Amino acid sequence: MRKEQQISTSVLVIGTGGSGLRAAIELAELGTDVLAVGKRPKHDAHTSLAAGGINAALGTMDEEDSWQQHAADTIKESYYLADPRTVQVVAQGAGRGIEDLERYGMNFAREQDGRISQRFFGAHKFRRTAFAGDYTGLEIQRTLIRRAEQLQIPVLDSVYITELLVAEGQIFGAYGFDVNDGTGYLIHADAVILAAGGHNRIWRRSSSRRDENTGDSFRLAVEAGARLRDAELVQFHPSGIIEPESVAGTLISEAARGEGGILTNALGERFMERYDPERMELSTRDRVALAAYTEISEGRGTEKGGVWLDVSHLPRETIMSRLPRVYQTMLEEQMLDITQQKIEIAPTAHYSMGGVWVDPLTHATEVPGLYAIGEASSGLHGANRLGGNSLIELLVFGRIVGQEAANYSRSLTAHQRSQEAIDHARQSVQELVAADGEENVRSLQRAIRDVMTAHAGVVRDEAGLQLGLEKLSVIEQRMQNIGIHPDIAGFQDLCHAFDLKSSVLAARATLESALERKETRGCHNRSDYPLTDPDLQVNLVWSPQGIVRESIPQVPAEIASLITEVSQEGKLVE
Ligand code: FUM
Repeated sequence: MRKEQQISTSVLVIGTGGSGLRAAIELAELGTDVLAVGKRPKHDAHTSLAAGGINAALGTMDEEDSWQQHAADTIKESYYLADPRTVQVVAQGAGRGIEDLERYGMNFAREQDGRISQRFFGAHKFRRTAFAGDYTGLEIQRTLIRRAEQLQIPVLDSVYITELLVAEGQIFGAYGFDVNDGTGYLIHADAVILAAGGHNRIWRRSSSRRDENTGDSFRLAVEAGARLRDAELVQFHPSGIIEPESVAGTLISEAARGEGGILTNALGERFMERYDPERMELSTRDRVALAAYTEISEGRGTEKGGVWLDVSHLPRETIMSRLPRVYQTMLEEQMLDITQQKIEIAPTAHYSMGGVWVDPLTHATEVPGLYAIGEASSGLHGANRLGGNSLIELLVFGRIVGQEAANYSRSLTAHQRSQEAIDHARQSVQELVAADGEENVRSLQRAIRDVMTAHAGVVRDEAGLQLGLEKLSVIEQRMQNIGIHPDIAGFQDLCHAFDLKSSVLAARATLESALERKETRGCHNRSDYPLTDPDLQVNLVWSPQGIVRESIPQVPAEIASLITEVSQEGKLVE
């Protein structure tokens, strides 16, 4: 039998990306015992891929900007599915989020006089996006790691969490194993913060790398008794690279368009003129992604199924200082020099705008002791996320959730544990380790990605979604017969098997919710329901028992007055 490590802490944070680390820092600064665990090395967490920037109405470039305008832009572009309370918390707290990063030594791009530089991102009224080249997420991750090290926060970044432990409806910890040697981990905790990302890797072309954003948070939360909100609302970023196949979907930052990049189709037409002549390349992500998709599907795309993004007219100095990652990525992946040549791109699954249902102010789930944060959570983005809002969200809610979890832990006078729950978690791991069926986990993961790409991509319809669900049922059947083969290199195969379980749950939630949302709104384009339905200005809350509609509170007057009408122009016209 493999050995098992038993640990106790006040708060367990699952996920060592930006949101998890920020929450852990808050806890440590408050003097609360915290342990952070993750399935991949912390310096390589998904946050490190975030490119173009982080939003806060600092007004360093455009003095007229305000947190109210940031909130208004966010709500407008969410197509009124964002929770105004959550939006207000983030927009109002954003300045403090940036200050925290500065306090931890973050290296922001600055103007000559020392002001933090801010650039335009799509659909923001003002220049509001602070950045560090196009390595903003990497720089934030490094900054948070440094601060976590100063505070001596214990981080185990080779522990895969397989199950949350629940006794009488209340969290008491989590179970997992070491990805290298298979050692079991029984972790007792008063509270658990889920910061393990979203589910955008269940599409074939994704800006997430293999094995990240596989829907882990969704499964862990749902199995513990929580629910998901708006799983169907997945942001397709307009610019993912097309080849090589092994990294298809890798992001070309929106910063490329923010700095003046131009989009053309195979005919050389600047196609955004057709979809959003005013904002052109700086239109909203959903519109630019749909525009690129439409050009490709209507036969005006490149031979390889893409469109062109060109920054070669920009000064070389601009490219080197403001788009260094795009420059490097294209050289490394395609030996292509963006100072001279155009980039071939197509939409890529980029961000889970839905996620685990959380309280709009505290990010507590419906399971006492369980919180969700960052891409794992929901409420801020609605049907279209403004670029740069996810990084600020993790700073703002990292702090809040840290405080909430600390208070929760302090308020506990007794904590129930359940031997049955622990036995169940151990047994689930053991059963999979012993599984010796003929089905290969990797090919089943591929099958899910194929289903989601074919049936739940940028444009969806009833027949396709139904077919997707039928195919998913077949995959679920095949999963009964998988074989797991941990080897001398480690227990990666076991990780993939749990990833697969998560992905299939996330896929089902997405397909079922997409079926229920019989309208076109933001990222969710239903060719059979091309109009936005006012009755569906609700959140769809999913559990294995079904979907319920949840109403959204009114936008406060001081924010509503700053919202200009959302036009349907450039939306689906079939
Ligand atoms: O395009 C980008 O740089 C992505 C930013 C974001 O998703 O916030």
